[in-house]
Amino acid sequence: MAIFDARAAVMIPPRKVKFLIRRYNPEEGRSWWQEYEVETYRGMTVLDALLKIKEEIDHTLVLRYSCRMAVCGSCGMIINGTPRLACQTQVAEVASEARPVVKVEPMYNFKVIRDLVVDFTEFFEKHRRVKPYLIRRDVEERENPKYEYRLLPEEYESFYQYSLCIACGLCVSACPVFASDRRFLGPQALAQAYRFIIDPRDEGWAERLEIVDSEDGVFGCHLAASCSAVCPKEVDPGAAIQRLRSLLLRYRLGLWKKKISGPVGPLEKKAERKPLPPEAETLPGVSLEELEESEVEIPVDELIAG
Ligand code: SF4
Ligand code: FES
Repeated sequence: MAIFDARAAVMIPPRKVKFLIRRYNPEEGRSWWQEYEVETYRGMTVLDALLKIKEEIDHTLVLRYSCRMAVCGSCGMIINGTPRLACQTQVAEVASEARPVVKVEPMYNFKVIRDLVVDFTEFFEKHRRVKPYLIRRDVEERENPKYEYRLLPEEYESFYQYSLCIACGLCVSACPVFASDRRFLGPQALAQAYRFIIDPRDEGWAERLEIVDSEDGVFGCHLAASCSAVCPKEVDPGAAIQRLRSLLLRYRLGLWKKKISGPVGPLEKKAERKPLPPEAETLPGVSLEELEESEVEIPVDELIAG
């Protein structure tokens, strides 16, 4: 899926579009399709349309979103049968004059909490399981870092694409293996395992390889690649899984040895603060130095009063 479809941004959607939304009420244990008609405008996203429904037609509709710019990963849903970010999907991309209907459902492969909101507990539990952070053997250095670690541009490039993951869950929602086997670690967690295993600053690669070396790990993948087809950030988790599988086999055959980058000198001392221009220091009762050092109660009322 393209990160940004410039053509879609200038397309004009049908003036009125029917939204068919899959609702779920946990108190009543009831699930149903509900229909809303929305007046559109050029540039309207599916998220804009859902918020218009919520604000102007039906306040009870529940959905999750935050950034509205394909960064936070919270607005994933199924739009006309495909997992997509609602804020990144133009209404004009999914509705036409010939078919002015958009079907919206909660993401597949996730437990539905209410309407379009799904539960990410299992998703993040699997993410955490692959230890998605840099591990250094030197515990003292890890807790109180004193050095920087070398990372060459070509080393950075080797995992850059995988570091773009926004944890939106679309790949998991599209995964046919996950649909039939909930033990499968899933494309997101496996791609993140690969991202940290090949990072030369990381020394936790052996622990992660043990975690992914199983039928629930890399060997559970059936190579459907639907994860990569829907990823809004072009992370390509399918490729990460294949690379991880190949790396694991080479490692087991003694043909892969990780090159770890070492420290390249003490961390630079924090730069001295430049003096502020006099006009920046005129707010009564607020010291910027104190604000940085500690929690300072800002006299908001006094400031507002004048
Ligand atoms: S790999 Fe792509 S689709 Fe999967 S969670 Fe990350 S950004 Fe979303
Ligand atoms: S609202 Fe943040 S990704 Fe859509």
